[in-house]
Amino acid sequence: MAKIIDGRAVAASVRAGLKAECEQFYADNGFRPGLAVIIVGEDPASQVYVRNKEKGCNEVGFYSEVYRLPADTTEETLLALVDKLNKDDKIHGILCQLPLPKHLDETKVILAIDPSKDVDAFHPENVGKIMIGNYSFLPCTPAGVMKLIESTGVDISGKECVVIGRSNIVGKPQAMLLLQKNGTVTICHSRTKDLAEVTRRADILVVAIGKADFITGDMIKEGAVVIDVGMNRKDDGKLTGDVDFASCEPKASFITPVPGGVGPMTITMLLQNTMTSAKNHLK
Ligand code: GUN
Repeated sequence: MAKIIDGRAVAASVRAGLKAECEQFYADNGFRPGLAVIIVGEDPASQVYVRNKEKGCNEVGFYSEVYRLPADTTEETLLALVDKLNKDDKIHGILCQLPLPKHLDETKVILAIDPSKDVDAFHPENVGKIMIGNYSFLPCTPAGVMKLIESTGVDISGKECVVIGRSNIVGKPQAMLLLQKNGTVTICHSRTKDLAEVTRRADILVVAIGKADFITGDMIKEGAVVIDVGMNRKDDGKLTGDVDFASCEPKASFITPVPGGVGPMTITMLLQNTMTSAKNHLK
């Protein structure tokens, strides 16, 4: 029987710390850490994420601005908004919700965000800093995963760590963060020949592939720490992860549920990055 890692509880504890830090910051400086979120178009999942980011800011006492732009917004308009926010002293973090409508170039938008306000850590300058271990911002989802692993008390050093998925947002930075904690890291992806053979070696398994209930109990090692980054909507409307919880839970030592595992951590780490950025801008 695994212990369930309660992402909501870990997130609540980090947010309580941030709220206290924010009040102290305001008392010392007379302004609040500020986050600007841009959303282009009507994608329903993105709308929910953006609302939750706004709520998160309110909860910890940050200043926030949300820009809801129509789906036919031109690149020129979007880049002009990013430029205005780059120069705005009230704003310490800028996040443009992805995916963008097809006519807009995501890379161009990411490059336009001032790296010192890039709280997603998507700008190549910040990605490079993560590679060399000298960073201001950690990418939100992998940073949340690291906090959850930390909450188990399991030491990553020397452990076999397997990451499934090689996206720029999760898989690649996740592998770097585990490496920085001295894990022996393997990245698996769609071309990996014998996935189960690799996953069965994992003391710590992080799964971010976007396939519902893909990792089953026979694919994990007895006593593994299993972190499920997946968020898949099943036909009956229920949310499920990439890990088949029912068959993995009896075998794992720790496991994250979906919902209530990694999800609540992502926005929390975004708030953490915004706090860090506000402090950096004082310097
Ligand atoms: N869309 C899905 N996840 C993310 C994220 O972490 N940041 C941004 N900007 N867009 C996203």
